[in-house]
Amino acid sequence: MGQWFETVNEAQQRAKRRLPPSVYSALLAGSEKGVSYSDNTAAFGELGLAPHVAGLAAKRDLSTTIMGQDISLPVLISPTGVQAVHPEGEVAVARAAAARGTAMGLSSFASKPLADVVEANPQTFFQTYWMGDRDAMVRRMDRARDAGAVGLIATLDWSFSHGRDWGSPKIPERLDLKAMAKFAPEVLRRPRWLADFVRSGRLPDLSTPNLAEPGAQAPTFFGAYGEWMTTPPPSWEDVAWLRETWGGPFMLKGICRVDDALAARDAGVTAISVSNHGGNNLDSTPAPIRALPAIATAVGHDVEVVLDSGIRRGSDVVKALALGAKAVMIGRAYLWGLAAGGQPGVENVLDILRGGIDSALLGLGHSSIHDLTPEDVIVPTGFTRVLGVSRT
Ligand SMILES: Cc1cc2nc3c(=O)[nH]c(=O)nc-3n(C[C@H](O)[C@H](O)[C@H](O)COP(=O)(O)O)c2cc1C
Repeated sequence: MGQWFETVNEAQQRAKRRLPPSVYSALLAGSEKGVSYSDNTAAFGELGLAPHVAGLAAKRDLSTTIMGQDISLPVLISPTGVQAVHPEGEVAVARAAAARGTAMGLSSFASKPLADVVEANPQTFFQTYWMGDRDAMVRRMDRARDAGAVGLIATLDWSFSHGRDWGSPKIPERLDLKAMAKFAPEVLRRPRWLADFVRSGRLPDLSTPNLAEPGAQAPTFFGAYGEWMTTPPPSWEDVAWLRETWGGPFMLKGICRVDDALAARDAGVTAISVSNHGGNNLDSTPAPIRALPAIATAVGHDVEVVLDSGIRRGSDVVKALALGAKAVMIGRAYLWGLAAGGQPGVENVLDILRGGIDSALLGLGHSSIHDLTPEDVIVPTGFTRVLGVSRT
């Protein structure tokens, strides 16, 4: 990797310079007008912190436990599907997470087999959508368990909205010669990205090995997407069935409302992620940090509450923990690090977040992340959103 970068924003600028525009645009993602995408980061900026200057703690403890996994900082890798950013893709991310003592979420649309990712990081959760019939889901869960996944993340917030005001990249079905010829002009303007793949001897892989039935060829990204799109969406009974059939630690990702959080609890989940899918799904859903306080209060200690969407700094993590999350997950932050510098780039991002959490704890006068409370954060009037509570 090039030089150390000191903020996630800088990693993003490097990723933009290094990646072919279509690949960069696929990572930037967002949906429709980008209202949710923008609010996710803007909302953290609206929250204040109230620091002390003396009586501070000389040492700070950042460790915690999520879904039965001990992690050295309250930041996990959120599953993301597009990692043709770097030849080592998800394996590089998993190694970086292991090196920095945290857990990895692997997307079912990942380009690397789960077994290789588990080898790189035994603290790996497999992420699934509600896709295919129940038999196919059972077989997929069995394969994930056999490959060593230590938990399942079920992502349910997806409603297949595809337009973006700033345009979507045209991703090919597979990278064959015809597709390469079409993309050649923009790829040739990014020689360092291309050189990484040439050195690895492989083209970016757009298939989904973790969705392949034994002995069958891995479906293409779009083949798998089509199956998902035509699967009838799940009921809460289906969610309870999925959780029970998996049998181990289970996270439901994509909760925005109090009533859904309570239903997830009743379905027996271990954890929820308060999330709007990084602003990539239904536009105009509020930043999850606005919905977090009411959800955390409603579920109490019955369920582990995680938050994702919009985390770019250690102080964002501290704000989320103070308002009731046990940990956060990151998406784009590590994707920018991966694009900027492979495994060391992801380690760099995790180090930035660790450093930021540590300095915020120091300034707030706490010796542990577990001591954070809502009083550490200045929440402006009108900031929070209470969704899914009847106001009678
Ligand atoms: C390019 C991209 C691909 C994603 N793919 C998946 C996926 O396959 N499964 C999933 O559960 N979430 C997916 N997500 C959502 C992330 O897990 C996470 O919720 C989101 O990125 C968090 O917001 P942040 O990027 O602001 O940190 C994806 C996000 C991005 C940006």
